[in-house]
Amino acid sequence: MTHDPIAGRRYWLIGASSGIGAALAHELLGRGAHVAISARRIEDLEAVSAGRMTVVPLDATDHEAVQHAEADVRSALGGLDAVVWCAGYWKQFDAAEWDRETFARHIEVNLLGLNNVLAAIIPSMVAAGHGHIVGVASVAGYRGLPGAEAYGATKAAQINLLESLRAALRRKGVRVTTVCPGFVRTEMTESNTFPMPFIVDADEAARSIADGLARCRTEIIFPLRMAILMKAARLVPVRTWSALTATKDDRTPSPANA
Ligand SMILES: NC(=O)c1ccc[n+]([C@@H]2O[C@H](COP(=O)([O-])OP(=O)(O)OC[C@H]3O[C@@H](n4cnc5c(N)ncnc54)[C@H](OP(=O)(O)O)[C@@H]3O)[C@@H](O)[C@H]2O)c1
Repeated sequence: MTHDPIAGRRYWLIGASSGIGAALAHELLGRGAHVAISARRIEDLEAVSAGRMTVVPLDATDHEAVQHAEADVRSALGGLDAVVWCAGYWKQFDAAEWDRETFARHIEVNLLGLNNVLAAIIPSMVAAGHGHIVGVASVAGYRGLPGAEAYGATKAAQINLLESLRAALRRKGVRVTTVCPGFVRTEMTESNTFPMPFIVDADEAARSIADGLARCRTEIIFPLRMAILMKAARLVPVRTWSALTATKDDRTPSPANA
């Protein structure tokens, strides 16, 4: 039997009280990893852990809380090999009635929360010359989609940020992986009313991510059909894409928040 490189590694998952993060925590634990999980909802974290993971509650938008949590996780696990950013915020709004607060909340969680985590983990990873940063972005960051102005903008920014970071930290011993899921059945998508093609369960998403991590992938995109579709979408000229995705005046935008 071949050795699973995940076994024995120490992972910290932020945004693991539900959905993809929770499923990934179970998957990594099942494959022999040591796992610490964070998010705001303590009871949900405890339920995910079932006493088998280190639980460190935090609000990712609170810089000091993230700093303290990083120290707690390191001490509990005896070090840290990889950090997986799974936290995320999504709320649909109609661009014609611009919602300043909802847009700002997307930035606050999806970008400034990630910023807090990077600030907490990069110095020690660089000092150790060892570490793996994994960011869950989304295929929604590949192209602009009506109704996903806020979410898509933060996901595009995450993809760009992680790519820049990968090049910047490459010679410092720190690896960076970008995860771009298509639609996944989680709390985040349960109230979506628009079609969600190729949707997968969180367990399947977690297996795809863990398999990609075990193979040291730089980029993990799934499911395959969504990956092909959205990679192809990137090649469509701007004018054609705008025409293809334009919403009709008499109906609510039907975004893809995947
Ligand atoms: N579901 C999809 O179709 C899909 C597709 C592509 C990408 N994604 C991305 O995948 C990631 C996970 O999403 P999901 O679908 O698994 O949704 P989810 O079940 O709603 O999970 C979101 C997680 O983020 C945590 N979180 C939110 N705000 C936080 C904060 N301020 N501080 C700390 N943790 C916070 C939540 O925990 P608490 O509420 O307990 O804090 C929860 O654990 C997100 O980045 C999402 O954008 C999802």
